Amino acid sequence: MENNAPEKRKRILSCIQPSGIPTLGNYLGALKNWKTLSEDFDSAFAVADLHAITVRQEPAKFRKQITEVLALLLAIGLDPEKSIVFIQSHVPAHSQLAWILNCYTQFGEMSRMTQFKDKSKAHADNVNVGLFSYPVLMAADILLYQADLVPVGIDQKQHLEIARDIANRFNTIYSPTFTVPEPYIGKQGAKVMSLQDPTKKMSKSDPNPKSYVSVFDTPDVIVKKIKSAVTDCEGKVCYGEGRDGVNNLMSIYSCCTGLDYDRIAADFEGKGYGEFKAAVAEAVVEELRPVRERFDRYMGDKAYLLDVAAKGAQRASSIADRTLNKVMKKVGFVLPK
Ligand code: TRP
Repeated sequence: MENNAPEKRKRILSCIQPSGIPTLGNYLGALKNWKTLSEDFDSAFAVADLHAITVRQEPAKFRKQITEVLALLLAIGLDPEKSIVFIQSHVPAHSQLAWILNCYTQFGEMSRMTQFKDKSKAHADNVNVGLFSYPVLMAADILLYQADLVPVGIDQKQHLEIARDIANRFNTIYSPTFTVPEPYIGKQGAKVMSLQDPTKKMSKSDPNPKSYVSVFDTPDVIVKKIKSAVTDCEGKVCYGEGRDGVNNLMSIYSCCTGLDYDRIAADFEGKGYGEFKAAVAEAVVEELRPVRERFDRYMGDKAYLLDVAAKGAQRASSIADRTLNKVMKKVGFVLPK
């Protein structure tokens, strides 16, 4: 007999730190996929402001960045009626569960995290305990929502492994409580490299602004940056081993236009890099134009943004509080009346 019961939709959750305007790399590698995923899954997306204070933030700038990232989540096309869009600190259960999970995570496990090692070198004057237990807060984010899948960049895979370990450990000590999440690593090719050193990932913390395109660069800035991108002296638009600069531009062009590498190579057969770069720049400008326009509209309506955040936090809390309650019962806390 056929089983007509509707299958429960899988749930995804991801978060983005409000640490400055994202780059084209963040957009093509993550944010653009979030929009697509939000159509196929039950989804929740948060601005991870609690994570961001593991490095020192200037209050006024921080407040602005949180608002901007919230506006950006809407600008990429997430529908706050369909997806839960919220600000992490508005849902106290994140901090509460993080504390509890700290007590189920070993010092040794955290000491092995490569991001902690890197960041404690980069911020040697402020190696705070929050930076150390950052992956536990991230585990709390994920486990509160019983997420099945977590779209993350490859650099977050180790943190996701820890979230799985913590979930399994808690489930084993007590009884099944948390869904054990799987990473969802977007298709490769969406890894955008620096325009000046295409062996390195594009990063907004790069001291050379010509190495990255910010999501909100103006069209003429985008054109300038893409035109000065490093290529090689072969003068041939085709994908190949060791041709990092050209490969990167082809990957960007492919992500923006949907054309595959063979088609791009065919279209630019016999044409030089100048012409190709102009086409890449135009594709990027057109890709980001609607995002920028929507962003400006949302930033001009703070009341609407706060409304979205309030509704999002309410919906997020109703899921998160259920999980937190379960956890507190299992641990043996006396629940408040
Ligand atoms: N640590 C992630 C990053 O810097 C952001 C993040 C926080 C996150 N909590 C999360 C990502 C939960 C996925 C799920 O990219």
